[in-house]
Amino acid sequence: MISNDSNKVILSICDLECNYGELQVLHKASLNINQGEVVALFGPNGHGKSTLLKAVCGLNPSSKGSILFEGSEIIGTESDQIVEKGVAYISEARNIFKDMTVLENLRLGAYNRRARKKVKENFEFVYSLFPKLFERNEQMAGTLSGGESRILAVGRGLMSDAKLLLVDEPSIGLSPIMKKTVFGAINRIKKNTDISVLIVEQEVDYALAVADRIYLLKKGKVVLERKAGEILKSEIEKAYF
Ligand SMILES: Nc1ncnc2c1ncn2[C@@H]1O[C@H](COP(=O)(O)OP(=O)(O)OP(=O)(O)O)[C@@H](O)[C@H]1O
Ligand SMILES: [Mg+2]
Repeated sequence: MISNDSNKVILSICDLECNYGELQVLHKASLNINQGEVVALFGPNGHGKSTLLKAVCGLNPSSKGSILFEGSEIIGTESDQIVEKGVAYISEARNIFKDMTVLENLRLGAYNRRARKKVKENFEFVYSLFPKLFERNEQMAGTLSGGESRILAVGRGLMSDAKLLLVDEPSIGLSPIMKKTVFGAINRIKKNTDISVLIVEQEVDYALAVADRIYLLKKGKVVLERKAGEILKSEIEKAYF
């Protein structure tokens, strides 16, 4: 693992194995994320990227191996407790409440005990990062554009007072302009906060531009780790095959 001794590791996954019934999807996958780092996880379709994110947030009950969050084992911990510790998962689906306003959606992100104590502060934080959400405060979430609704999902994750954001394919199905909007949001988190981000993304060039480091997951194993500035998009895509 490429590391700098002064870096504090926030997430450490070691020899993670996950299966769905008879199908083993992750085979001793290992990776680390430092505090404040943006890490991109690449890999071909169906090779276990989403499964890895779900395992970190407690949504894969079959997980074996070790997942340390801030030094404590979280395998076996209920997902609501993992949220409480500071992990937010933004899934591929646009899981926002369409019949509620932007404001109501954000407020729902602050349901855990730790976040409830910091609602005002986190609202200010989210609005300062994404002024567009403030402008759209009263708008029904179902009428937001694709990119805006992804940003709302990220904003809702931040309302949970997250220290680590797990973001699964935020740009899927978006136009190039909307993709820029979404990656602009991730860049703001990187520049303005100490929050760590693990992002799964098929758009290698967008993710490479924002990431500090990358991993490649192939057939359920981490087969490559690089600093983002030290690998080209073409090398990553070639490694898929
Ligand atoms: N709930 C489930 N039940 C059974 N099999 C599943 C389940 N979820 C995922 N799988 C299978 O596990 C494998 C890995 O899926 P996963 O969603 O982790 O891949 P991925 O790398 O995220 O793929 P993609 O790039 O297409 O999103 C696939 O073969 C998938 O069909
Ligand atoms: Mg996936």
